[in-house]
Amino acid sequence: SQASRGSEMAALSPNDIIAVIGAGAMGAGIAQVAAQAGHRVRLYDNREGAAQAGIEGVHRQLEQRVAKGKMAQEEVDAIIARMTPAATLAELADSRLVVEAIVEDLEVKRGVFAELETLCGPDTLLTSNTSSLSITSIASGLEHPERVAGLHFFNPAPVMKLVEVISGLATASETAETLHATAAAWGKIPVHASSTPGFIVNRVARPFYAEGLRLLQEGTAAPATLDALLRQAGGFRMGPFELMDLIGHDVNYAVTRSVFYAYYGDTRFQPSLVQQALVEAGRLGRKSGHGFYDYRDTAEPAAP
Ligand code: NAI
Repeated sequence: SQASRGSEMAALSPNDIIAVIGAGAMGAGIAQVAAQAGHRVRLYDNREGAAQAGIEGVHRQLEQRVAKGKMAQEEVDAIIARMTPAATLAELADSRLVVEAIVEDLEVKRGVFAELETLCGPDTLLTSNTSSLSITSIASGLEHPERVAGLHFFNPAPVMKLVEVISGLATASETAETLHATAAAWGKIPVHASSTPGFIVNRVARPFYAEGLRLLQEGTAAPATLDALLRQAGGFRMGPFELMDLIGHDVNYAVTRSVFYAYYGDTRFQPSLVQQALVEAGRLGRKSGHGFYDYRDTAEPAAP
């Protein structure tokens, strides 16, 4: 039956080592999720000091939970002790699962997967946290594309329950089932999807951003007004502008372009010049301190 399908393959064992590549917002969060589930985690980033900084960021957040009485100090110490920075990709060779969470660029990702294939044994599952790129393309040209899949977490990864398990054309069903069972064992709600541009959530969410940006460009209302309206009257957790600031405009613009071109320029998915300008200005959102909102002086977003 459909219900028993997900349990055919066992989840990875907590003894299995997990590798995460890219220690930005997503990579650090995914590493935290795996470490909380009991795995030893190796975190690699090609930017000097970034992996260590990613682990320190996780540590600070977990200490805040201790301060609020939501987590025991021993638990935090154990989670952090399981997370180690890796200085090279080669140090990831003994992992059972690799989750790549680097820049949203197909050629860069393909380069990393080609290198991983020379380092890891054929049983290592190689996955990408890509928001929109083709898993079929990422896997193509590899000797063992059957162990490649998408493992798409949402931001922030330790909080958001959904995980899309994405199969490309060559992904083995055992690969997808093992990832599905593993995500469930990590306390997530996994869903199988095939590799179409934007998969499920980023396909459905594109118009949420695009129509918000069109309203802004048409001068209908200011971002703060639209965000507040959607939150308070529309029942959304966040409005489109505060959500884009959280995602990061560099990431979101790359995803918009990727989905737009993948659907042969379908105007429903057309990127906005407002997004482009924010990226050009380096106003990437929360992570740079400024996006639609200014985060530099206040903890709470101020109107732009
Ligand atoms: P980010 O910009 O915060 O972090 C990316 C990290 O990857 C940086 O620390 C960078 O130094 C590192 N990096 C870049 N190229 C590298 C390479 N060749 N080797 C090793 N490290 C490298 O980006 P973020 O937001 O964490 O996104 C990462 C991936 O996750 C992207 O594919 C994105 O589409 C996806 N994603 C992003 C979400 C979001 O809300 N920001 C949500 C879900 C998926």
